[in-house]
Amino acid sequence: MKNEIFIVVDGIDGSGKSEIVKMLHNYLFSRHKKYLILTTREPTHGIYGKQIREMLRQEKDPASNSEKLMDLFIKDRESHLKNTIEPFLSNSNEHELNIVLCDRYYYSTIAFQGAQGLDIKSLIEKNKGFRKPDRTFILDVEPSLALERIDHRKKEKFEQIDFMRKIRDNFLKLPDLLEDNIKIIDSSKSLKEVFDVIKNEVDKILS
Ligand SMILES: Nc1ncnc2c1ncn2[C@@H]1O[C@H](COP(=O)(O)OP(=O)(O)OP(=O)(O)O)[C@@H](O)[C@H]1O
Ligand SMILES: [Mg+2]
Repeated sequence: MKNEIFIVVDGIDGSGKSEIVKMLHNYLFSRHKKYLILTTREPTHGIYGKQIREMLRQEKDPASNSEKLMDLFIKDRESHLKNTIEPFLSNSNEHELNIVLCDRYYYSTIAFQGAQGLDIKSLIEKNKGFRKPDRTFILDVEPSLALERIDHRKKEKFEQIDFMRKIRDNFLKLPDLLEDNIKIIDSSKSLKEVFDVIKNEVDKILS
């Protein structure tokens, strides 16, 4: 077995990514002492990630600034891989297993900027050079339920039902458009049920 594994959890806002990443981190940390885990997210808090977060907070129109956002997400991802993910994975040795858990990745750029009107094929092309995850989980839930889950917090640029429907449709197309190891997970169920499905899949990779 390889001694590096790169796992991504992606999906629409409120689908449960961060909760699942946290549960997966805790599970893996106690599963074996030889696991070294890097748990990380996109957008990052680096210079490009900060600009993205600011735009998502400030802007109201979900369709605006598609090119600018795509550009920033690509730059943020380049820097995330170069400075954080690749150094961690290249440091692996035969006694340990280095595992990266990443909350969002290029699937989000394709689904979101695709929903903003950019061509999906070109978005895929722009992200083609980035390291492919070993396993990707796309959490799928009705946008209305996702919005209920994040009802308590201030809404960002993309958090409007019609827009979220487009984003969700794009996420659901990705397994056919990419040669990635993607599994769509029904995340309308309880967190425990969603996590159990993911845990089983991850156990298969690790066994
Ligand atoms: N399967 C679930 N059942 C019920 N509640 C859930 C489920 N998954 C997540 N939640 C709750 O919904 C809210 C949003 O979940 P979480 O922050 O994990 O979503 P997210 O996909 O990371 O969202 P964002 O894209 O906005 O960061 C949290 O309060 C979380 O506890
Ligand atoms: Mg989150």
